[in-house]
Amino acid sequence: MIAPASDIDIYSEDVRADPWPHYKALRDAGPIVHLTNNDLFAISRFKDVKAALGNWKTFSSAKGVSANEERNANVSGGVLESDDPVHAQLRSFLQGPLLPGNLKKLELRFQQSADELVDRLFAQQRFDAVSELAHHLPVNIVSELVGLPEEGRANMLDWASASFDSMGSYNERARRAEPKRAEALSYVRNIPRDKLLPGSWGDTLLSNPKSETFDPKNAKDLLFNYVGPSLDTTISAIGSAIWLFYAHPEQWDIVRADPALIPKAIEEILRIEAPVQHFTRHVTHDYAIEDVTLPAGSRTVMMFASANRDERKWGNPDDFDVRRDSREHLAFGAGPHMCMGMHLAKFEMRCLLTALAARVKRFHLAGEPMRRPNNTLRGFGVLPVRVE
Ligand code: HEM
Repeated sequence: MIAPASDIDIYSEDVRADPWPHYKALRDAGPIVHLTNNDLFAISRFKDVKAALGNWKTFSSAKGVSANEERNANVSGGVLESDDPVHAQLRSFLQGPLLPGNLKKLELRFQQSADELVDRLFAQQRFDAVSELAHHLPVNIVSELVGLPEEGRANMLDWASASFDSMGSYNERARRAEPKRAEALSYVRNIPRDKLLPGSWGDTLLSNPKSETFDPKNAKDLLFNYVGPSLDTTISAIGSAIWLFYAHPEQWDIVRADPALIPKAIEEILRIEAPVQHFTRHVTHDYAIEDVTLPAGSRTVMMFASANRDERKWGNPDDFDVRRDSREHLAFGAGPHMCMGMHLAKFEMRCLLTALAARVKRFHLAGEPMRRPNNTLRGFGVLPVRVE
């Protein structure tokens, strides 16, 4: 059977502003739905997204993971846009500092930095939970660990956000993002070797291309894998956490009464407000889910955020419940491309929430929150809060 068609444009302003009813409509329409306006096939149910992400031979990343062929024709050569064996090799170059054992060594420093920040913001009482709270660890500490020179760091946020915009369908937002993405690549390619902080992740990466098949000329492009996916994603997750605890004070009370629940709460935040909503794959072979077929050569969108709210998998999926066991969520993807920085992201969130739980009884809104529109990310641009 051919896939049912839908005219939902998952990159439109309306859908980006409130995606949940649209995602439900897609899940209910069938296991595979043809998005006629986006020229994509959507896989939106939990079990199907998870199975497809594990099947990289059919769902390839090597021809890009964006929704537009302009961007896919120009893949960055990074770990995200590759298949094995190249993928496994690139991953092995990058993953060392992101492994839990190595992050553990940074725990004291991260917690101290989070405590100092939260002390300062608590004294202020009012602050923007995005620019003043959520930006801090990803932008300052992580850029330093990567070893980026001071100049250029300020642009990183803009560049990272543009990179996610450029991955949507080729709409106005993606078109505007393209030159910024090019700027970002040019910045990392032109960082003078001696400007990377000695001993930093970037320095280690560039001094140690182990494999003979790896072209050291591309090593600098790989640096962007530490920066591009690590900023806006984590910032969105932290902003959403504050929003959710503002909107559900009883859940904050549960966490404050038992801070050992923080890791569980983090999984639930990521489940219910997946920062990366979807990426795509190129379909190499005909594939069927139930009796619906997906033709070889097509492009499929893997709807992480929809899978995380699939009522076939989760009871009351729209309820935020910090006691829920959400560990199976797909906010970090699944299979060979599962997020390499997930331990770092959860670690940053844990340090901040620990600092906040020890000090803040209530979050109140202190102004108009604004979502930050983006083709693939979901999060806030501005979230003014007052803390009690
Ligand atoms: C809450 C924060 C984060 C979220 C929600 C997130 C989400 C994701 C997702 C969904 C993927 C899978 C992409 C796919 O299957 O095509 C991914 C891959 C990746 N992420 Fe994250 N990410 C986060 C934080 C980070 C951080 C802090 C880093 C730090 C370096 C990072 C680095 C990467 C890299 C390098 C990949 C590519 C892995 C591969 O292709 O093998 N991410 N991320």
